[in-house]
Amino acid sequence: MLEMRSISPEEFVPWTRAEARAHGNRLDDDPEMLRPRFDLDRSIAVFDQGEIVGGAHSHSIEMSIPGTTIAIAGVANIAVQPTHTRQGLMTRMMHHQIHDLHERGEPLAALFASESIIYRRFGYGIGSLYERWTIDRQHTGYARRYESPGRIRFVDPADISNDLPEVFRRTTAGRPGVFQRPPHQWERDSQAPEHLQGGQGGLFYAAYEEGGRVDGYVTYRITSTNLCVNELMATTTEAMTALWRFCFDVDRTSSTEALKRPVDDPLPWMLADPRRLQRSIRDGVWVRVVDVAAALKLRRYMQPDKLVIEIKDDLCPWNEGRFELEGSPEGAECRASNSSPDLVLGISDLASAYMGAVSFSTFARAGLAEERTPNALLRADCMFAVQYPPWTPCNF
Ligand SMILES: CC(C)(COP(=O)(O)OP(=O)(O)OC[C@H]1O[C@@H](n2cnc3c(N)ncnc32)[C@H](O)[C@@H]1OP(=O)(O)O)[C@@H](O)C(=O)NCCC(=O)NCCS
Repeated sequence: MLEMRSISPEEFVPWTRAEARAHGNRLDDDPEMLRPRFDLDRSIAVFDQGEIVGGAHSHSIEMSIPGTTIAIAGVANIAVQPTHTRQGLMTRMMHHQIHDLHERGEPLAALFASESIIYRRFGYGIGSLYERWTIDRQHTGYARRYESPGRIRFVDPADISNDLPEVFRRTTAGRPGVFQRPPHQWERDSQAPEHLQGGQGGLFYAAYEEGGRVDGYVTYRITSTNLCVNELMATTTEAMTALWRFCFDVDRTSSTEALKRPVDDPLPWMLADPRRLQRSIRDGVWVRVVDVAAALKLRRYMQPDKLVIEIKDDLCPWNEGRFELEGSPEGAECRASNSSPDLVLGISDLASAYMGAVSFSTFARAGLAEERTPNALLRADCMFAVQYPPWTPCNF
């Protein structure tokens, strides 16, 4: 007989062991890494004859949405060890969790999916996208000349907490889907063993400085003749062009790779030979609208308008039905309604449109949204439009 409940302090270490087995990770990984953001009350464990065989967790975290930043549930550590997979354990945990998050009054939940096939069935939708790039060195010329009067200097990993968090914050301002890297994570990165190891593959930090101010930084590693950009953040065109040029021109490298670029990154438009940049797209964060009325009310809207949206949500009866939304750049009101709908769509697709990852018109063409009144798709697209598409450069 399986039992599902939250864990006690003594069960924390066995809980992390079950997760390690599920992911195939080392059992001796330090469980204390998780402890600072671990909330026992928000943990879930499935026990089989007293032994933990699966678990999940969530914690409150801030995420940017169009126009503002709100507290949401960061869902993580979903794991079922291989002795117990495909018996519905994750399904039980996910159903339990979504009701728990609703009771806590959290309007949205977010997670990072190990596989993109898993979470749509629980009402999660793609909340942000990113691109992965590769380019050969000989094709990295810019289409025009860029002047960058500043200088690039290496940053000692011990000092990354000084200027880099502010550059991250300024670069991502106004963009939905962002989790700011918390101070303890910068601190942890500054002490990561990889900086201390010799040989290839070590992590380097370099910053662009102009007029005494740090306007950008890049984190990269070199393996064989490939330079891999982990993160490149720049608040000015000068900083951005200088940092990419720096990466492209490091001696003894023949290619540059970048792991997580926003889909609207300017670099492809700056290159003289843009076809040479190989781009592949991937899902970033997955978002679940836990409470439709509350979530729609919290967002800001590009164009003032009023729409009735009908939502289908098998898992959360409180989200099923019609909602009258009146929104503008200043704020919004949203309430349950009996009026006939302008648009009909499912809860996971609402999450993607809500974040600004995709338009309602695209969903309609995919057969995933239905336009019930003339021009409703265009009106919804204008209302939910975002200046910068969502991007999630840093996981929680
Ligand atoms: C992913 C994981 C949590 C699934 O747990 P589980 O208890 O086996 O899932 P369930 O039995 O509740 O499966 C529910 C449905 O999802 C499907 N599913 C679950 N994991 C899947 C996967 N990795 N690939 C494809 N389908 C999957 C199941 O086939 C099932 O479909 P059905 O309802 O049509 O039969 C578990 O396999 C695991 O821990 N994997 C390794 C760690 C991991 O990837 N964790 C997720 C981190 S985001």
